[in-house]
Amino acid sequence: MSSYIVATSGLTQSEGVHLAYLVAAVLFILGLKQLSSPKGARKGNTTAAVGMIIALITGLIGLHPSSGRVILMVIGVVVGLLVGTLSARKVKMTAMPQMVAAFNGVGGGAAALVSVEEYMRLVAHSSQGVVFVITVVFSVVVGSISFAGSVIAFTKLQELMTGRPVTYPGQQAVNGIVVVAILAIGVYLVGFGTSVALVVVLLAIALFLGVAFVLPIGGADMPVVISMLNAFTGLAVAATGFVLGNTVLIVGGTLVGASGTLLTKMMGDSMGRSLGNVLFAAVGKAAPGGGAAAGSVEGRSVRSGTPDDIGVMLAYSQKVIIVPGYGLAVAQAQHVAKELASALEKRGVDVAYAIHPVAGRMPGHMNVLLAEADVPYEQLKEMDEINDQFKLADAVLIVGANDVVNPSARSDSSSPIFGMPILNADEAKNIIFMKRSMRPGFAGVDNELMFDPKTIMLFGDAKDSLTKLVASVKAA
Ligand code: TAP
Repeated sequence: MSSYIVATSGLTQSEGVHLAYLVAAVLFILGLKQLSSPKGARKGNTTAAVGMIIALITGLIGLHPSSGRVILMVIGVVVGLLVGTLSARKVKMTAMPQMVAAFNGVGGGAAALVSVEEYMRLVAHSSQGVVFVITVVFSVVVGSISFAGSVIAFTKLQELMTGRPVTYPGQQAVNGIVVVAILAIGVYLVGFGTSVALVVVLLAIALFLGVAFVLPIGGADMPVVISMLNAFTGLAVAATGFVLGNTVLIVGGTLVGASGTLLTKMMGDSMGRSLGNVLFAAVGKAAPGGGAAAGSVEGRSVRSGTPDDIGVMLAYSQKVIIVPGYGLAVAQAQHVAKELASALEKRGVDVAYAIHPVAGRMPGHMNVLLAEADVPYEQLKEMDEINDQFKLADAVLIVGANDVVNPSARSDSSSPIFGMPILNADEAKNIIFMKRSMRPGFAGVDNELMFDPKTIMLFGDAKDSLTKLVASVKAA
């Protein structure tokens, strides 16, 4: 890219590189903007990917590598492309959070390693300024925490280790000592001396902190942690950009850092939890679905229905709202949900999908699933947009969702989800609750909505139940 610009415009090589980086940075920003709505998300991905290709080619050309290094670089690029493409194509939707963790981790690790290498290279020849050393220390520490934390997040989500919080006596004290050690080494390197060995020690301690920091966090809180580690990686990459004097790394890293921070805050807000609660409360330490909360459903009866009766009721409704949740993703029921909506629409029923911001297990989970099934974007209604509509709905169909419709979030101050904004499914005239059992959802709390006199339970796998409902609606 830069050589093309140089050849055709008479710019110097350095000006060409900067211009190409500027184009890449603008494409990143445009891509992010497009990604902020489901409608533009695919385009946004492509736009940002084009920016990344321009940045990659420009960076490689700008390195003026020797022939031996070119071979190494080409091998690196080919391996990276193959691993990235194959894993992105093969990954299941439900495994997306751990893939993001893996990709994010290697970004942080790479930022830390490049900073160590640059420190070794430059400090060997001359003393460097304070700003250079501060950015190296920052990038090494934050990049290493992000790498090690992401490895643990991946391992938990992939169920290679327990997803429960791992805690032990004195854990906070150990973490505190590690933080103090990191600060002490950082201060020494910035103000008092040069030592490659200490930079490597810093890297090792920061890796330990990354592991120690994520171990006590429950597997189901990992998406929030991954989003935060993603922000860390962005900041580490931006710092590495300063170390290398590379503007596109600074811009790209800052964009990732800023958007990761915003996403972390938005996820916390949507769950009604502070970041401190996610990071330090070890939520999920008690057996999910066990304990006192789960016991309270025992001995109580619910009203359950058959697909035939419910199908007829839906077919003669005027307005139906579908609330998708994590169970829809587990059952891979998005296509048959769309089929049911189409069958109802053919009969003149007004159908909409109510999307809670933290339904499922990752940001935008329901949007992505339903987009895969070609559900029109106009039918996907955000919580604020649809919450007033529930009272007008003849039926709400809760498909594998639970916490996001649990009224205890409004009324029970002892509930772990107290304060989380929820979808007003309880206001609909009829409530169809589709799940396999009476087990609670992610938060491990029972849902009084199952006992509401307006509620009919339809037990079973969401895909099977929806398939039966489609048949019943068509036959009605
Ligand atoms: P949950 O509250 O986790 O409930 C999912 C329900 O799906 C369960 O009650 C389960 O009941 C049912 N289910 C599972 N597999 C099923 C299947 N094959 N067929 C039918 N039903 C099935 O889900 P939600 O309402 O989407 O809420 C999301 C939760 O995750 C919130 O607490 C949120 O805070 C948390 N969280 C979200 C995110 C993001 S960013 N989305 C990140 C971290 C945590 P059965 O076992 O009885 O079937």
